Amino acid sequence: MRSLMTLISKIFPKQSELPQSVEVPKIKGRILIDGKIIDSGFKTKTIFSPCSFRNDSDDQLVFPEMGTTPQVDASVFRQAVDAAARAWQKGRGEWPCARMEDRVTSIIHLRDRLIPHRDLICRLLMWEIAKTWPDAQSEFDRTIQYMTDTIEATKQLDRDCSRIQFAGDIMSQIRRAPLGVTLCMGPFNYPLNETFTTLIPALIVGNVVVVKLPRFGQLLWDVLLEPFRDCLPPGVINIVNGAGREVIAPVVQSGKVDVLAFIGSSQVANQIKQAHPHPHRFRSILGLDAKNPALVLPDADLGLAVSECMKGSLSFNGQRCTAIKIVFVHRSVVKDFIDLFIQKVDSLISGLPWEKNVMITPLPDRTKHEQLSAYVKDALEHGAYLCNPKKGGQVAGSLFFPAVLGRVSFSSRISKEEQFGPIVPIVEYESFNEFEEYMVNSPYGMQASIFGKDPTVIGEAIDSLSNQVCRINLNTQCQRGPDVFPFTGRKSSAEGTLSVTDALRSFSIRSMVAAKQDQMGKQVIRGILDGDHSRFLTSNIVL
Ligand code: G3H
Repeated sequence: MRSLMTLISKIFPKQSELPQSVEVPKIKGRILIDGKIIDSGFKTKTIFSPCSFRNDSDDQLVFPEMGTTPQVDASVFRQAVDAAARAWQKGRGEWPCARMEDRVTSIIHLRDRLIPHRDLICRLLMWEIAKTWPDAQSEFDRTIQYMTDTIEATKQLDRDCSRIQFAGDIMSQIRRAPLGVTLCMGPFNYPLNETFTTLIPALIVGNVVVVKLPRFGQLLWDVLLEPFRDCLPPGVINIVNGAGREVIAPVVQSGKVDVLAFIGSSQVANQIKQAHPHPHRFRSILGLDAKNPALVLPDADLGLAVSECMKGSLSFNGQRCTAIKIVFVHRSVVKDFIDLFIQKVDSLISGLPWEKNVMITPLPDRTKHEQLSAYVKDALEHGAYLCNPKKGGQVAGSLFFPAVLGRVSFSSRISKEEQFGPIVPIVEYESFNEFEEYMVNSPYGMQASIFGKDPTVIGEAIDSLSNQVCRINLNTQCQRGPDVFPFTGRKSSAEGTLSVTDALRSFSIRSMVAAKQDQMGKQVIRGILDGDHSRFLTSNIVL
């Protein structure tokens, strides 16, 4: 108990010791429906920051209040979907029918309106989900870059689509057309970036969108409402928040949602998909569960493997879908690997997200430690041992000290389930077959990392993994970026592909105009192009 109190006082400052520069931002969350920002008429929920401090008077931990977030009911959520459906107008709305150039211009304006809010958005990310200050800034900057790259990719796509193609006796122009009302639901670990990586491509190709906010990381969305309202026609984007279980099923059951862009658990994705009355008409782009392994071969550079596995498993406290979630280390090097790993983990700075070089911060879900502690307990009962018993697995406020588990057995839950938190399970293996068996039987298939030097051995491992996961990282941690690369997964890890260019395709369908290559065909097409009589069949390109 005394050691816990010491930890708490080391990690959490007194209220009067908080630096002024990191003042808690206060937000009263609103919603955007049909071009109107609404601040009342719905229930709200109070948001408390996981970044606690100690009361000056009695040393008790305080989770500071950050404001409120909307909790709309199913009827208000339905209004948001109806507004989107009106903007879509069965495909005849102003936005889906606009020239690509006009949509690109709107997204450029939107991007430029967001940039001045960088500081506040990053502070909200830091306080609400305890993302470190450098990571919060990088999430914002990466999002702006993603918008810029999407704008450029859209222009390129438009140029590529503008040419007339000839095959057999047919000539045609093939373009990308939007799909309809899109429900975007991003995750709490990248509440801005990952939502935008679906939202922006969906919008730019002409879809209309309803955004349901993630579980945490909601308050920053309030800052975005005015820019979205001012840059897009009414109803093209609607931003609401409510209890997913109550509000999502009724609108999906109505059949008014055409596309689901969801990053979260496969269990929730299944529930949403099954609610649609016409599943064959419900396009899904999903980023789901993962259990990305690292494989450390006997000849691996252990210093490098340890450092990459540490970053891979513990960046943002392991709350990344691309995090390394299980580490297989060859028996001949496992002792050295664990010794080095523990040294690194012991040297990590735990604390509040604005502190210099901090790595381990409080978890946004204040009850998450219960699940993590249960994983540790279960692993120990199944023969594992805690490699860092001094601090590993201890809980202070909402902070969970990374627990490194050695000799993890396949009968333990942590070997199979996604922890999405700071636990590093290490499995000792003797033969590659043990790892291969694990992979082929795993329900997940996002990424893997291999650490080693021998090209023959690594080549074989690549071949074994290439039909199990969608990205094999050599001597480097798993990760999504750079965002131009395809981000996807097999089995229960994803559906569809996201990247700057792939997302434009995921949120659109190819539509073509075709005519016979005879005199009449050529005359009509020439006449339309020369007279600029169509927004779709056009030789105008976005410059
Ligand atoms: O949580 C999933 C994110 O897409 C991970 O992205 O690998 O760049 O952290 P990241």
